[in-house]
Amino acid sequence: MPTLTRGSIRISDMTKTIHLDAPDIGPVEKEKVCAAIDSGYVSTFGPLVGEFEKAFAGVVGAPRAVAVQSGTAALHMALHILGVGEGDEVIVPATTFAATLHAVMYVRATPVIVDIDPKTWCLCPAAFKAAITPRTRAVIPVHLYGNASDMEHITAIAAAAGIFVVEDATESLSAFLSGRHLGMFGDIGCFSFNGNKLMTTGGGGMMVARSSTVLDRAVYLVNQANPREGQEGFQEVGFNYRMPNLNAALGLAQLSRLNGFIELKKSFHRIYEAKLRARGICGMQEIYPGADPSWWFTAVIFKDNAEVIRVHEGLKKMGIPSRRIFKPMQTFQYAGTFQRGSCDNANRLYDRGLCLPSSTLNTEKIIEEVCDAIEGLMKKGSS
Ligand SMILES: Cc1ncc(COP(=O)(O)O)c(C=O)c1O
Repeated sequence: MPTLTRGSIRISDMTKTIHLDAPDIGPVEKEKVCAAIDSGYVSTFGPLVGEFEKAFAGVVGAPRAVAVQSGTAALHMALHILGVGEGDEVIVPATTFAATLHAVMYVRATPVIVDIDPKTWCLCPAAFKAAITPRTRAVIPVHLYGNASDMEHITAIAAAAGIFVVEDATESLSAFLSGRHLGMFGDIGCFSFNGNKLMTTGGGGMMVARSSTVLDRAVYLVNQANPREGQEGFQEVGFNYRMPNLNAALGLAQLSRLNGFIELKKSFHRIYEAKLRARGICGMQEIYPGADPSWWFTAVIFKDNAEVIRVHEGLKKMGIPSRRIFKPMQTFQYAGTFQRGSCDNANRLYDRGLCLPSSTLNTEKIIEEVCDAIEGLMKKGSS
């Protein structure tokens, strides 16, 4: 029986479980983690962290990568290393997980929340451009659910304005734009290996960058800024963000299965598209031209909020988990003043969108059954 998480529901006949975003852990992972335990290297010292960094860099086509304890830590470190701080503004899209916003607040910069593109659901380049002021230091495009942001325009606007680009690629491992891996367009790219992501290390993250100075600084800072050879005592405040060896063991095992995970995610997306979109039941996130998304999640949009609630609740009763789209961040209690311009597209998406079971613990047959269940609920609603 696979591990159950918050995102899994066992259906009423007790014969099968439908998973929303639960991790896919098996014998390969167990063997690798047990070997790491047997080696005695369980914490931040150990050979597997470097091995994992090297293998990951190979997957995304980066010269080097630095492993950390979460995607949030990667975003925090990215802004810190680029010198973003108090008095600076950082532009973020309204539709993302709260961690994107929190990382900006950790460095005491001011987040500026702008709208998304209604088709790709990622940062709207025009809204980004309109929000730039002399105080803007960075922008964080988020590649939502494994789809690509319009990096061509975002990087051009940022370059013209002298703004850093930190890519929140936490949801977009194995996703490409014009043949380049997402996370490799900006100054720093950040990935997450949280339990619900495309692959997991239990908890963890990774940073990639073109500049080796940036990465050297990341290695130093995430390891408490431990004095280097020849240095007497600590020189600056560091962070305990280094990934432990045990997590890297899990990461290496998952990385060896990544292609299989992605194939399945794409297949699920194709099934949802063929059975739901093609029959006009709902709409889907549109692919930015030239993008090859990895579809961490397949999400769909319905006619209105009442329909979303009806399907969400109806599926739950049938033992099928689903999840609402991220609540736009300007609606958070502490974030209302951060909004700049209208966020109508993000609000509309939240009202009408729903994330469907996407864990690779599911089978294609299960995904077809989920489509049938949605179709049934829609028919019931219209009769
Ligand atoms: C868009 C986005 N940014 C940041 C994060 C933070 O990653 P982590 O949970 O590894 O800190 C997540 C996922 O959790 C995410 O979905």
